[in-house]
Amino acid sequence: MMKKIKKILAANWKMNPGTLAEAKKLLSECNKLCRKLKGTDMIILPPALYLSPLAALSSDKKLSLGAQNAFFEEKGAFTGELSAAMLSDAGARYVLVGHSERRARGESDEEVSKKVAAILKNGMSAVVCVGEAHRDSHAQYLTFLKKQLLFAFAGVTKSSLNRISIAYEPVWAIGKDYRAAMSAHDLYQTSLFIRKVLSELYSKEIALQFPIIYGGSVEPANAHDLMHNAGVSGFLVGHASLQIESFSRIAYEMDRQ
Ligand code: PGA
Repeated sequence: MMKKIKKILAANWKMNPGTLAEAKKLLSECNKLCRKLKGTDMIILPPALYLSPLAALSSDKKLSLGAQNAFFEEKGAFTGELSAAMLSDAGARYVLVGHSERRARGESDEEVSKKVAAILKNGMSAVVCVGEAHRDSHAQYLTFLKKQLLFAFAGVTKSSLNRISIAYEPVWAIGKDYRAAMSAHDLYQTSLFIRKVLSELYSKEIALQFPIIYGGSVEPANAHDLMHNAGVSGFLVGHASLQIESFSRIAYEMDRQ
């Protein structure tokens, strides 16, 4: 029998909120929300500066903190970077890798691959972002997606797979509103394609159970449809995670059976 895949609700706060006091308030609201959810785990990804103080406030086992990025080197002359070990020490259990906003500023597939290795080596879990910038009628975007996946999983052995999830985020759908998000039908097709690549890399069983979450203008209005009709096990939410009202409504839509 197939194991039930855990639902994951991840909040990508990006470069928000502006102060630690606001971050603490939002986290305490997320803590309360998390306690009301039955089958959903929450991952909050604040700016790295807030990790340590927020780690001291996280009270629910189902809520983990994560970083939005990590550098792949262990230490040394890398001005402005943070190592995976430092982030782990500050309380991160997850790290987002290869977000399109970082790829747009020069992060390469090779770097994504090295970052995944560093995160796993330091005992954390990686949430690997993949997603095409455009969709074309010749389906070149599938070749693009496959390349991103092959790089991200290049050094990942079967034994580490339980510490990786994929966040599929089509770049064209990010930061808009629910009307611009992907349809459940198209997301279902894409999640099948991702599973096909994973099945070629590992096995059909692994591919079928692999946690794939969706990001790109998830809002209360589309959360139910995307969660229940698109073959994904959760969301990576950006702007709608900064208001507890919208984030809670997404969480309840997800958590419903
Ligand atoms: P969005 O961001 O929900 O604001 O589209 C998602 C993301 O970039 O992770």
